[in-house]
Amino acid sequence: MYISAFPTFSFSKLIKRKKAQVFSDYFGYENTRFFYRGAYAIFYGVKALGLKPKDTVLVPAYHCGIEINAILKAGINVKFYDVTHELEVDIESIKSNIDEHTKAVFVIHYYGFPQEMVSLNKLCQTHGLKVIEDCAHGLFSFYKSKSLGAWGDISVFSFQKSLPTADGGAIVFNDRKEDCFITQKKPALLTTLRAYLLLYSEHIHMFKGFLFSVFNTLILKPSRFILKILKRGGSKVITANTNEFDAQYVSLGPSGITEKLIDSIDAHGIVVNRRRNYQHLLEGTKHIKNIKLLFNNLPVGVCPLFFPIRVNQRDLMQQYLSDHGIETFIFGKKLHNLLPKEQCPVAWAYSDELLCLPIHQDMNPGNIEYILKVLEDENCPLN
Ligand SMILES: Cc1ncc(COP(=O)(O)O)c(C=O)c1O
Repeated sequence: MYISAFPTFSFSKLIKRKKAQVFSDYFGYENTRFFYRGAYAIFYGVKALGLKPKDTVLVPAYHCGIEINAILKAGINVKFYDVTHELEVDIESIKSNIDEHTKAVFVIHYYGFPQEMVSLNKLCQTHGLKVIEDCAHGLFSFYKSKSLGAWGDISVFSFQKSLPTADGGAIVFNDRKEDCFITQKKPALLTTLRAYLLLYSEHIHMFKGFLFSVFNTLILKPSRFILKILKRGGSKVITANTNEFDAQYVSLGPSGITEKLIDSIDAHGIVVNRRRNYQHLLEGTKHIKNIKLLFNNLPVGVCPLFFPIRVNQRDLMQQYLSDHGIETFIFGKKLHNLLPKEQCPVAWAYSDELLCLPIHQDMNPGNIEYILKVLEDENCPLN
């Protein structure tokens, strides 16, 4: 069995089934601006908020790095605040970091689990600070009956994490109508074709495993070869899947396929499947001795991105699962080099320990049972 870490792309997903539009249902398109990737939305967002050099944004000690670099590349300073063992923002740490340069607080809803936005917004209002909500993990999650992304002055999204898209991010302006001060271009056709072909190969691998080697030989390998030649000839191919922030592409919009996909997707179905898979793993892992979970329950309103577990020998465990066809994800493996080594031990520990098991919408109960079986196996590094 092969289980991808992220949702896979198939051509049938381009067909609109229900009247369930990702963004117009949740936020409306008027206040939304789409980008090639979430990091570019962050870059644009801090500029749109009017932040200036010498201004500081308070950012969480646990992060993946690209969101921090997006702020720095916009010319704004950052200062880190602590997070708790439950990956909640540490309000006291935020308070103690506020000074005359602080202009905004950047908050991440890790793995789709909401932060306590009421007290955070109250604190920011008291100090006249803007709230930037990072919903890269939180598409379709709710907090107190209000969707994530509707709490901050601005909020940012990254679609590749939870939707079957190869690129795409967005910024939602909750404090005003979007003001367009950039002209967007589309990514090159070659970039888009390459990215979607790879995502489609994940689909073939997961659902038509018997065809995968044929697909690999007849389509993937020749495509790689052609791509190499085109690159030598000067064609530029970029990817939305790196942790590098490349400022020269900041004004790129999403690809046409991504635009079509985010307008075709059944948001409700995604939430139902993700919650079902998470709940199934939650129940199943109760019987596994040495497993340590990050979140022990699934609150109402959460659309989980992954099932994060804490493992001592994390990289060994990731390899073991991959050897069994289960692809996983690590968030925050390399914390930003501006984060002091002595600050926030939780972030440093989680950077070494957290491993995200997949629970995405393409998976079925058989996939979850298989993951549980592999975790229970006597050769699993947990045992
Ligand atoms: C919390 C968070 N914010 C922002 C981003 C940037 O999103 P993208 O990869 O679409 O640029 C990421 C991506 O990994 C992320 O995990």
